[in-house]
Amino acid sequence: IPEVYILAIESSCDDTAAAVLCNDKVLSNVVANQLIHNQYGGVVPELASRAHQQNIVPVIEAALKKANIKKEQLSAIAFTQGPGLMGSLLVGSSFAKSIALALQIPLIAVNHMHAHILAHFIDEDGFDKPSFPFLALTISGGHTQIVRVDDFFDLTIIGETTDDAVGEAFDKSAKILGLPYPGGPLVDKYAQLGNPKAFPFTKPKVPGLDFSFSGLKTAILYFIQKKKNENPEFITENLNDICASIQYTIIEILMDKLKMAVKETGIKQIAIGGGVSANSGIRNTLKETETKYGWKTYIPKFEYTTDNAAMIGIVGYQKFLSQKFETAEVVSKARIQF
Ligand code: KG4
Ligand code: ZN
Repeated sequence: IPEVYILAIESSCDDTAAAVLCNDKVLSNVVANQLIHNQYGGVVPELASRAHQQNIVPVIEAALKKANIKKEQLSAIAFTQGPGLMGSLLVGSSFAKSIALALQIPLIAVNHMHAHILAHFIDEDGFDKPSFPFLALTISGGHTQIVRVDDFFDLTIIGETTDDAVGEAFDKSAKILGLPYPGGPLVDKYAQLGNPKAFPFTKPKVPGLDFSFSGLKTAILYFIQKKKNENPEFITENLNDICASIQYTIIEILMDKLKMAVKETGIKQIAIGGGVSANSGIRNTLKETETKYGWKTYIPKFEYTTDNAAMIGIVGYQKFLSQKFETAEVVSKARIQF
């Protein structure tokens, strides 16, 4: 069988990314981060689309160059169809269509959440691939889902957030503490130095395998306001303990539902993905379940957990093998199902 070369483009949110894969191996994985949003405390859609337009050609050229691949060698082009910001998605899809047309190669549409999950199938030294069926916990700034994965294209969402995503819970808590955006990594950093049981926060009562994080944010806001009234220096004096307590509560919420999902499905293989899976507390807690409950856990290489195009490329590769191609009429979708 000849080798399959996929050029993949990801532009769903605020990162412009391109990657080149040869079968399931990543030859290059380039990401241009848009730091412009940090000063606004969140992603500004209008600015994101403009930055994508600026970045997309240089990022793709860099990916091809780094992979040492000429565009004439490409077998297909894969792009993120959704979910995401419409203006951002349109930049990637329009560009992908143009290349596919110009090179007369197949066009492949990829669901971003599907990609976060199949990122585990990128061939990478020292990283095992899960076998089917497994449970995927996707945790990012935009999503929180537990997905039952029975095959490459047989995925079922069995639980998801009813309000905020986990990443938002981290970022909004960080904002209350006066930390800059995105605050998730900072909460993680301070949490490592604090006592997770210092300030207990109540966990939400949500039926089934669904999640809720907005109540926690409100609880933290009221708690901090009350404490600051008593002592204006409360945050500075207790930052590590506050962060550790917030992170501990978030991890407990995630773990409670994961345990429930394992019990309901009988599946003990757990794969995590999305930007929040960089969290050290989540990683450690998950690793502990291997000896504690006999789970097998999978955490992808860091560069494949946050938004990237290599994960779009691995879905592209699987779709190429199954001949799942699109016509030039394919449209971007802000919301999309598996
Ligand atoms: O997947 P991602 O890069 O972008 C999308 O939202 O799709 O995820 C970004 C989110 C942000 O909310 C960020 O604060 C969070 O991941 N994050 C973390 C950590 N690193 C990134 N949250 C907690 N601890 C971390 N170490
Ligand atoms: Zn993502």
